[in-house]
Amino acid sequence: MNPKKINLAIFASHSGSNAQSLIDACKTDSFPARVSLVLSNNSNAYVISRAKENNIPVAILNKKNIPEPLDEFCLNILKTKNIDLILLAGYMKKIPSAIIKEYENRILNIHPALLPKFGGKGMFGLNVHKAVIEAKEEYSGATIHLVTENYDEGPILAQEKVKVLEDDTAESLQKKVLAVEHQLYKNTVKLFIENNM
Ligand code: GRF
Repeated sequence: MNPKKINLAIFASHSGSNAQSLIDACKTDSFPARVSLVLSNNSNAYVISRAKENNIPVAILNKKNIPEPLDEFCLNILKTKNIDLILLAGYMKKIPSAIIKEYENRILNIHPALLPKFGGKGMFGLNVHKAVIEAKEEYSGATIHLVTENYDEGPILAQEKVKVLEDDTAESLQKKVLAVEHQLYKNTVKLFIENNM
């Protein structure tokens, strides 16, 4: 047992393949964190099954489930679980300002393109990869950045490139970028914790 592990919360809205990769990384003794909470706005997200299979507490954050203001509920649960660092992994809702303030420089996001290009409103899922192909970019890739008030604009922590081939479709590019994302996210989180926390 590594006594120095910090507590992570992963926020995700869909499949959670990045969440899975982080959950798996946390199982190794040398990884400096454990996943103490998976939070989703989507009660049908597959990431919830992944969390339950790994005995990780789950919170569903949507107006149907939560009687009080969402940000208050969210802050309370983060506090209760002693969360040190929040990782967004395909989380489709805006993070309330109160949480960004409380967790300043302690929220990371992964974006499936080379920011600052192809970020901002509407740039999610296949839209990102379609835009990269339409712009005839030679490279796409993945970016890990700190989360600030504006979508996809926080300081960049790490990037990895993927070559866009002539016959790539948005779907094939998405697959290639996702494969890179899994590795990049866990490596960057490890370094971030070791250097900053
Ligand atoms: C990833 O492409 C990530 O970069 C973006 O949302 C997607 C989530 O995929 N923010 P998954 O749910 O982790 O498979």
